[in-house]
Amino acid sequence: MVNMTMQNLEQILPDAERDFAACATIQDLEQAKARYLGKSGLLTEQLKGLGKLSAEERPAAGASINVVKQGVEEALKARRDAILDAEQAEQLSNESIDVTLPARDQGKGGLHPVTLTMHRLEQIFHSIGFEVAEGPEIESDYYNFTALNIPEDHPARAMHDTFYIDADHEKQAHVLRTHTSPVQVHYMENKTPPLKIIAPGRVYRVDSDATHSPMFHQVEGLWVDENISFANLKGVVQDFLQRFFERDDLEVRFRPSFFPFTEPSAEMDMSWNGGWLEIGGCGMVHPEVFRHVGIDSEKYRGFAFGLGVERLTMLRYGVNDLRLFFNNDMRFLQQFG
Ligand code: DAH
Repeated sequence: MVNMTMQNLEQILPDAERDFAACATIQDLEQAKARYLGKSGLLTEQLKGLGKLSAEERPAAGASINVVKQGVEEALKARRDAILDAEQAEQLSNESIDVTLPARDQGKGGLHPVTLTMHRLEQIFHSIGFEVAEGPEIESDYYNFTALNIPEDHPARAMHDTFYIDADHEKQAHVLRTHTSPVQVHYMENKTPPLKIIAPGRVYRVDSDATHSPMFHQVEGLWVDENISFANLKGVVQDFLQRFFERDDLEVRFRPSFFPFTEPSAEMDMSWNGGWLEIGGCGMVHPEVFRHVGIDSEKYRGFAFGLGVERLTMLRYGVNDLRLFFNNDMRFLQQFG
């Protein structure tokens, strides 16, 4: 009985090595492992058999079983490493990339529809004599509000749902500009009329739903000269819109409104599919604004307007959900190549 067991024991390691070597996958190897080291595996049976031995025989027998068990475990580990190495090598060779192959055609890159609109409106305004001006997106409270005749505690400040940058909303506060109108102030501070600019760019408001995005785009317009009137404003806006939408029949209408930086102020609507659509605000530059930038309001007057760029883009391309502009879904964006 003892001899039988010892004989079987000697056979276990070579058997295991042969079995393991025949395994091609980790799954095969797990099954083979179970035959030796599992609950009723050959080595486990050997260990159970120890109980039947006498106290004198037991230590030596136990030691020899352990030697074999260690050998089997080592053989198992060696085979497992070899299989994993082979699998990895195969995976690497399957995934190897031939960098000399020509690129796959994934469609051409293109400009975002809002960017296309910005370019288009810059071109059109440029052709009617407007220069493009820029200003910072982080503004001081002064440029975003005060210089535009929106004093502290004016309800218009609350209306703007401002993103404040500084913790303390006091004097030196900085904001993400809530409109492009502060560019008017920067520009007029440094130049003497005649001035004729547009200022397209990003603006920010604490607002987010199907029709509002916390970041969106406006284009500001400003024309200051000695004899500028509301009629000039109407002519410029109508000319622009007709060219932007390529429709000669497009009309513009003005509704009296209020903006602190213009007097009088109006909201602009354009005719669209038999109705009227609101497209922005406008007015004659307020004398207080001229005063802040040191322009003589006795001598000069000017008009200003602000249009929503996403709005223009939606109308031009027939996009009905503002959020499409910000999702970066390639299926949407690729339509504007
Ligand atoms: N800044 C205004 C806004 O964001 C839009 C606007 C209205 C701009 C009248 C103007 C203007 O230049 O004259 O709501």
